[in-house]
Amino acid sequence: MKTTIHQLSAFAGQEVTLSGWVYHSRHSGKVAFIVLRDGTGLCQCVIEKGRIPDDLFDQLVRLGQESSLSLSGVVRAEPRSPGGHELAVTAASIVCPTQDYPITPKEHGVEFLMKNRHLHLRSQRTWCIGRIRHTVIDAIRRFFNDNGFTLVDTPIFTAAAGEGEQTLFSVDYFGKPMFLSQTGQLYLECAAMSFGKVYCFGPTFRAEKSKTRRHLTEFWMVEPEVAYIELPGLLELAENFVSSVVKRVLKDNRPELETLGADIAMLEKIEPPFHRLTYTDAADILTSSRTVQFMAEQLEQFKAQKTALEKQLADIEAAEKAGGLKQWQKDKNARLQIELRAELDELNIKIENNPKHAQLASEFKWGKDLGGSDETIISLMHDKPVFVTHYPREAKAFYMKTDRDNPKVVQNFDLLASQGFGEIIGGSVREDDLQYLLKRVEEEGYDPQHYDWYLDLRKYGSVPHGGFGLGVERTVAWITNERHIRQCIAFPRLMDNVCI
Ligand code: 4AD
Ligand code: MG
Repeated sequence: MKTTIHQLSAFAGQEVTLSGWVYHSRHSGKVAFIVLRDGTGLCQCVIEKGRIPDDLFDQLVRLGQESSLSLSGVVRAEPRSPGGHELAVTAASIVCPTQDYPITPKEHGVEFLMKNRHLHLRSQRTWCIGRIRHTVIDAIRRFFNDNGFTLVDTPIFTAAAGEGEQTLFSVDYFGKPMFLSQTGQLYLECAAMSFGKVYCFGPTFRAEKSKTRRHLTEFWMVEPEVAYIELPGLLELAENFVSSVVKRVLKDNRPELETLGADIAMLEKIEPPFHRLTYTDAADILTSSRTVQFMAEQLEQFKAQKTALEKQLADIEAAEKAGGLKQWQKDKNARLQIELRAELDELNIKIENNPKHAQLASEFKWGKDLGGSDETIISLMHDKPVFVTHYPREAKAFYMKTDRDNPKVVQNFDLLASQGFGEIIGGSVREDDLQYLLKRVEEEGYDPQHYDWYLDLRKYGSVPHGGFGLGVERTVAWITNERHIRQCIAFPRLMDNVCI
């Protein structure tokens, strides 16, 4: 019976065939252990000499990492096997023996891994994140489809900027300049006047000249847009939406979250209501003595963690030096050392950045957009995601509605994910008054002719409306506790690296 690792628990005591790749293997003279990977999980397969022909046993033992093969055997419960079951092998067929697979269980630099992304996709971390991304995308569609939204696919070729001209990618469109879409929002506003509640979901392009862990030049964004909605309604929609996505991942991907070391306790707390701050509150927090103290405490914590990690590494090295370790213990230590060193690198970056970020926060001036480090500080100070609303008008896009009570600010919000991950959603109520909007188009120096159809929406049955955009990769990074968003899309495009 052919099956997959994911379904093994239904076959305990029965004979099955699994097809996959060698993830890891080790052997003594009489027994070989192959951890098989089949795309649905990992399973330890035990091959005892004598149960299969000797020459086949010898071939299996020599198989390198990522060799492809099918193994048949009896399924038995084994808590120490990665998925809780192991296979007692009775037959095997080798499909493609492989030696010298380039990505081994040792440390590789980012550059190397990006160049080998076609192979790196098979590694366990990348696989776990890819599975969670799949769930996130399914949960996103389910939420909007179940809540009365109509899907509208907006174009990728666009004639005008939606989010600022500095980040437009231009293309030659039969001799005329066009741009790759920065947002589907302006088109979606048209569609909201037809369907009421709409969403688009697709690739988004920004010529971001920033090499941060939060920026891709091509990313996926889902954007809902709703007619007859005000700011409080939008915030409620956003918190219900994000909570439903997190719940689905907790339900469907717990093993992957555990493997990744995600903060499951934090995720379990994600439910409405989220925290709400105005931009002015956030600016006050950043320049307060509370932030000075918070940053100093963080630095102490990082230093203590660093000392503990260094001790752990020293202990492992001492054990290695003392000798007498079995091969499997050496392998386990090697993997642990990689993890610990990666953690240490990250801590060193945090320790180096802390004083700079504290300085930036203390110098924060009302009127500026919040920077990445400011967002990190605000989000670290809260146990749940935080809405920051009412930003200064000049820091934000032309289409955001000017607050009539305080014209210095707009009716917008960013949602900052918890644990320092920063902005995952940007949204606003849209300017629905023709005169106000025309003024903003002119202030930005845009050509009103490019926006004639957009302005028409304010002439014919204009209504209060609004929406937001959620970045898939940033959301996946937050949920999986992955520092860099390049790991959260199969083939990342960054300013200085487009992998393969
Ligand atoms: O805040 P942004 O720029 O908002 C808009 O594009 C609006 N038009 C959305 C709307 O109201 N319909 O982008 C929304 C989200 C960000 O919060 C972030 O999660 C993600 O898109 N994002 C990026 N993700 C990865 N790389 C980048 N360069 C990103 N820029 C934005
Ligand atoms: Mg934004």
